[in-house]
Amino acid sequence: MSGTWALELDGVTKVYGEQPPVHALRGVSFAVRRGELVAIVGPSGSGKSTLLHVMGTLELPSEGVVRIGGVDASGLSDRELSRLRARQIGFVFQQFFLAEHASVRENVADGLLYAGVPAVERYRRADEALERVGLSHRASFRPTQLSGGERQRVAIARAVVGTPAIVLADEPTGNLDSTTGASIMELLHELHANGATILMITHDAGLADQLPRQIRVLDGQVVSDTACDRGDVA
Ligand SMILES: Nc1ncnc2c1ncn2[C@@H]1O[C@H](COP(=O)(O)OP(=O)(O)O)[C@@H](O)[C@H]1O
Ligand SMILES: [Mg+2]
Repeated sequence: MSGTWALELDGVTKVYGEQPPVHALRGVSFAVRRGELVAIVGPSGSGKSTLLHVMGTLELPSEGVVRIGGVDASGLSDRELSRLRARQIGFVFQQFFLAEHASVRENVADGLLYAGVPAVERYRRADEALERVGLSHRASFRPTQLSGGERQRVAIARAVVGTPAIVLADEPTGNLDSTTGASIMELLHELHANGATILMITHDAGLADQLPRQIRVLDGQVVSDTACDRGDVA
């Protein structure tokens, strides 16, 4: 991916249902440069997960434009969107979503299935990603044999194994105790230091404040963005 912007949202709205309609996003606009580490913070129900789904092209906006690496997601077919997600976006969720019957190595390697990477290469890259998250010694374990923090490390390894342009994390420390959560935050900082673009969603203002940029959402709208306060973006 080339260009300055990893992600751009322009006037994005999302309305669910009709009777009555739920306005989950009401005109959200911001842009994220490649290599940024951004917290999206807001209370429960403010639209954070909806925003993550829209940024990750898992859902299309009702109105407005989402561009990933300069490409307008609305112009792509389902197939092209799947390919874009497989190559450009890594997801990390609060609930980890690991396959319990598969080994840690297989779980991470599966992050490359839809990117069309041959098996040998998938496993080689999975081992590299596990090394980055400090879990090489657990590669042959099943997720059920791991602690919560270790499971989230596996999920992060799976998200970064394809070296995506953007990592989207939805409350990645939400199911972890504070010490384990802090180690996951450290890991996100390390990945960022190595060049990853990361957006982390959280309802925890204390966690958000540890990141270089905070975008605050309330009732489906951006109410503040520290990058705008600093004049970094228009
Ligand atoms: N699939 C859906 N159908 C209907 N309403 C939804 C759906 N997803 C989210 N919402 C509503 O949109 C609003 C924002 O939800 P969400 O994005 O999950 O917020 P957050 O992640 O900040 O807690 C809430 O009022 C929620 O009930
Ligand atoms: Mg949520």
